[in-house]
Amino acid sequence: LLNLAAETGPSWVERALADLDAILIDHAHCEKKAAGTAVNLIFRYPQHADLHRALSQLAREELRHFEGVLDQLARRGIALAAQRPAPYAGRLRQEIRSREPARLVDTLLCCALIEARSCERLGLLARAVDDPELRRFFGALVASEARHHGIYAELAESVAPGEARGRLRALAAHEARVLAASPALPRLHA
Ligand SMILES: [Fe+2]
Ligand SMILES: [Fe+2]
Repeated sequence: LLNLAAETGPSWVERALADLDAILIDHAHCEKKAAGTAVNLIFRYPQHADLHRALSQLAREELRHFEGVLDQLARRGIALAAQRPAPYAGRLRQEIRSREPARLVDTLLCCALIEARSCERLGLLARAVDDPELRRFFGALVASEARHHGIYAELAESVAPGEARGRLRALAAHEARVLAASPALPRLHA
């Protein structure tokens, strides 16, 4: 369903539970970045009007997620500090081809994979954390991020019918390699 090439193992869950504050701060930054990425695509591709409504709705949802994480941080008395991001997104994007429309297709597919990985790991956290309110919060996000994965994959398919699916498999394999080589930081994507 999520098109991921490798499943997250139990060591990531242990690492996340050991520094849940850092995970929550990272999660807030991730939701903010997800909204920004969707808005940036609207600006970068004015000629792709067929993508704009889906991206706009997605950006609003990510901002609502961001606000939800802010609520969880406030409830737990954690300040939203600056934080060094995991190298994940930058390394993932290294495989994006430079010429259009391949660049757009690859960008949409990288977004699809980031959403898929977020979905998988938020689901793992929803089952693993003790705090019942956090369990509910993470659990409610799982369906939403799964839907975002599907939206980005469909948008890529609409830009490159017939090509996007094979490209998604190749980028998913790259995504799994990026995570396997990632430093063991307390981050959603490390
Ligand atoms: Fe989100
Ligand atoms: Fe999302």
